[in-house]
Amino acid sequence: MTESVQSFSSPEMVTSLRTHVCGELRASHAGETVRLGGWVHRSRDLGGLVFIDLRDRSGLVQLSFGPAWSSADAIAAAAAVGVESVVLVEGIVVERTEAQRNSDMATGDVDVQVTSVRVVGPAETPAFPVAPAKSDKLPSEELRLRHRYLDLRRSELQRSLMLRHRLMQSTRRFLDARGFLELETPILTKPTPEGARDYLVPSRVHAGEFYALPQSPQIYKQLFMCAGYDRYFQIARCFRDEDLRADRQPEFTQIDIEASFVGQEDILSVAEQLIRELWGTAGVPAQSPFPRMTYAHAMEHYGCDRPDLRYDLQLHDMTSVFATSDLPFLQAAIARGERVRGLRVPGGGTMSRKQTDELEQLAKGAGASGLLVIKCTTEGLDGKVAKSLAAGAGDALGLNAGDLGLYVTGADHFASPALDRIRQSVAQRLQLIPQNTHAFVIVTDFPMFERDPVTGVLGAVHHPFTAPHPDDISLLGSTPERARALAYDIVYDGLELGGGSIRISDPALQARIFSLLGIDDATANARFGFLLEALRSGAPPHGGIAFGLDRIAMLLSGATSLRDVIAFPKTTAARALFEGAPSPVPPDDLAELSLRVANRSEVVA
Ligand code: AMO
Repeated sequence: MTESVQSFSSPEMVTSLRTHVCGELRASHAGETVRLGGWVHRSRDLGGLVFIDLRDRSGLVQLSFGPAWSSADAIAAAAAVGVESVVLVEGIVVERTEAQRNSDMATGDVDVQVTSVRVVGPAETPAFPVAPAKSDKLPSEELRLRHRYLDLRRSELQRSLMLRHRLMQSTRRFLDARGFLELETPILTKPTPEGARDYLVPSRVHAGEFYALPQSPQIYKQLFMCAGYDRYFQIARCFRDEDLRADRQPEFTQIDIEASFVGQEDILSVAEQLIRELWGTAGVPAQSPFPRMTYAHAMEHYGCDRPDLRYDLQLHDMTSVFATSDLPFLQAAIARGERVRGLRVPGGGTMSRKQTDELEQLAKGAGASGLLVIKCTTEGLDGKVAKSLAAGAGDALGLNAGDLGLYVTGADHFASPALDRIRQSVAQRLQLIPQNTHAFVIVTDFPMFERDPVTGVLGAVHHPFTAPHPDDISLLGSTPERARALAYDIVYDGLELGGGSIRISDPALQARIFSLLGIDDATANARFGFLLEALRSGAPPHGGIAFGLDRIAMLLSGATSLRDVIAFPKTTAARALFEGAPSPVPPDDLAELSLRVANRSEVVA
């Protein structure tokens, strides 16, 4: 995954000020006169002999200043120059002696004996060292984000952003070769429903009216299909005002794809090939075809729709075993029609009471009423619940001596997320996730709708333009929440890389879906009238998918946060620390937009 120096070596990078880039110099350059430009990474003054590691994005090279080849002025300038200053140097490449070679540096076979130096960009003392000593911990992320230009000089970030660049170029090459057109869609637009809040932009010329920043180019890519641009893609910026986590940013980039005259398998085939291409670009193997799993299977056996398949730990329905218990709360739950599901943790008997209590807190945090913990020892099952079960329950639960059984009772919409968290937490605590192993899975047959457990209102699981599964159209009239959609996600190590669907191309069906979602004709026309009009004007069958480019770059560069693969990211509080956004605006600017901030004094304070 290391960036090869070939991709930016001379002659392409030669300018009037430099003949080479730092990272490309090798013993084969010995004897050549070179001109370099870069940042002073570190320097050592040995009294009359000064060494500087010079850095540009291709890497480092050692410069040496000594009385035999440098002027007294050059030596003095080298001794005085501060780290992170930009210098231009001219010198001669010399091969180092065997004893001086540095095998940790790609350029460790050579030195550049500097004959002239010019400090063109002196640097003040940096807010934190770009080249920390090996033992130094990274400074806080807040400090690094505040001085992002410095942080971006670190080789880890440079490698991540260079990988991101290569992923974008591979995407373009791959899709272009398959007839996809790269087409742009507006940033100032109408709301696109992707389940988050919109960022709104007030219109100056139309007082009281607002644009929305796109949550995705969804409607526009469908319009392209209606207009006959039958293969589209875009590396598209999307904006979603939602709760942030390490894998979510308010402003992120999708590889957005749409095609006409396709079915689900056509889209999944292109998607799988593109993923292989991108993983190949990063030098990470991707075994294909990716395993498939229906949404129903994923929810039943993993408790979530993006299962991490690097480890097993499947969930099983153990209601019949717990039905033998005489504990009243279990009898009552089972009588209410609730199930008892859980997992066997091989070797989990080593977990302490404190650890299983923490797991119970996790389950409760996800909405479960509690966690049933059963230890299996050589003497049999351990614990109050265990004692209440019929003889032979351990065998029925599949527990062997040394195992731990963890079970949750309750409605699936509480129990599944709780068991998902437990499964993940156990895998991490017991280190069940093998190193250097990755697992793709394509999840299909998502439901069309989900019913809000409190209000009972139907919402779209993917988005309202997703086509129902042809076998389930008849369910729309009776039990719409049981209808499956032609929707799919691609998951990698438990993270959703991308999702898409086949779209509704029949305007009557689209109107019916809006009505099931409680969107009346007037609202549908006001919000999506332009799409409905296009669907009525000759719409081909079409579908697509969108991948999170930031997530892909994060996974392939080994980063753990999207912030490490986005040049100028936002914090989890949705702030841009470097630029200082968002920020209050002067009252006159607001007045021009016909806006007034409520409780302005509080907001500004
Ligand atoms: P969806 O909403 O599933 O689908 O988004 C597609 C992919 O975008 C990435 N993603 C994000 N990445 C970073 N930060 C975020 N806040 C964020 N939200 C989403 C994820 C996700 O899988 N229009 C549909 C696609 C389609 O139907 O073709 C859409 O946007 O990796």
